[in-house]
Amino acid sequence: MTARKPYSQACENNKQVILEKLATLFSGPKTILEIGTGTGQHAVHFARNLPHLTWQPSDHPSNYQLSEPWLSEANLPNISEPLSLNVSASDWQIPTISGVFSANTAHIMSWPEVEAMFQGVSANLQAHEAFCLYGPFNYSGLFTSASNEQFDTHLKQQNPAMGIRDMDDLKRIGSDNKLVLESDFEMPANNRLLVWRVHGT
Ligand SMILES: C[S@@+](CC[C@H](N)C(=O)[O-])C[C@H]1O[C@@H](n2cnc3c(N)ncnc32)[C@H](O)[C@@H]1O
Repeated sequence: MTARKPYSQACENNKQVILEKLATLFSGPKTILEIGTGTGQHAVHFARNLPHLTWQPSDHPSNYQLSEPWLSEANLPNISEPLSLNVSASDWQIPTISGVFSANTAHIMSWPEVEAMFQGVSANLQAHEAFCLYGPFNYSGLFTSASNEQFDTHLKQQNPAMGIRDMDDLKRIGSDNKLVLESDFEMPANNRLLVWRVHGT
């Protein structure tokens, strides 16, 4: 019997435009850690279309098994077993990776968790390797759309620790962790794809 698959319409809407960017950003053979994999729809789409990558899904201990139905149905040779990973853990205890992808996580995590994510990413990547972070972001304290502002209000009603993050704050914690913002790509539906690269000589 096949388990009922969790489903995200947002993933279906954005997976192709994200894939087109990742194809360039992660063009060589690499192991990519995905933080906050969720349903696994992104993992399946990216691993299937970028067979030179090894995709390492992960999610919070309370959620990391959510992707199992999508991953087992896809049965792709280049997707590893999902890891239980809370970004706040002091030692991530993950295999060697050479890139990181995360979608729609920074506004769900509390701010200390976002800081922990940047610290952990930096600790686990080498110089010049990339961290791709997708989602909605603010600029100089301003929302980029009315719908993002409504979304932020909705998030904070659920949990005041959640909310759309500001680019100035992200750049500051990036700089604290040797992560330099290399690109900020406009994506559909008022989202962005931020590419951070580990600073190195
Ligand atoms: C809105 S969902 C996004 C899921 C998927 N990436 C997507 O785009 O549909 C946010 C994800 O962040 C994960 N998350 C929240 N806090 C986390 C933490 N402290 N460590 C790791 N993952 C976390 C949740 O478990 C959830 O899978």
